[in-house]
Amino acid sequence: MDYQDYLRYRSDILDWISLRLKNSRYTHTLGVEQTAVTLARKFGQDPNLASLAALLHDNAKNLDLDEQFAICKKAYPKKFSLTMDYASILHAFAGAEEARKRYPDLPLDVFEAIRYHTTGRPGMSDLEKIIYCADFIEPNREPFEGLDEARKQVFSNLDDGLCYILRHTTAYINGKGKKLYPLTAKAMKYYKIVEESTNTKKK
Ligand SMILES: [Fe+2]
Ligand SMILES: [Fe+2]
Repeated sequence: MDYQDYLRYRSDILDWISLRLKNSRYTHTLGVEQTAVTLARKFGQDPNLASLAALLHDNAKNLDLDEQFAICKKAYPKKFSLTMDYASILHAFAGAEEARKRYPDLPLDVFEAIRYHTTGRPGMSDLEKIIYCADFIEPNREPFEGLDEARKQVFSNLDDGLCYILRHTTAYINGKGKKLYPLTAKAMKYYKIVEESTNTKKK
């Protein structure tokens, strides 16, 4: 993709998501873009693809849950784990499909980065890791325990940062008594992360 194509995509995506997202989600999205572009430059990846994937990553977040579920059911009929039990991850899978329908000529890696930005998965590409990490550490996040450490880890080594965030997210989900999405459990295993028990999540 040349720079003019990139600018055309970016402008169209901004128009599209500004209609779909609440203000706070739009602000978050711009923060993810800024962080993703910085990470892409630092780790030798294409900053323009990182920018587009970041802008698109939460495009389905403010759709009704029923609509997110309906999109997932149609797009991934064999993925039985996509249920209301995991409502918070539906927007990632639905968003990848919505982005693919609207921008079919973008590279597959962009859609994968959208699809796996909440769950992670084994064997993530560098772009997937960048979006996953940028989503967690973007500058507009309200401060929470572990955020500064996550930023430090991600900027020193993308894999270390990814593992830190996977571990943090898993401890958070366990702490809430919720079920861990199977793909996240597989990612934990793949990246050889020992799951923290709920009572060790606060240090
Ligand atoms: Fe998201
Ligand atoms: Fe996000």
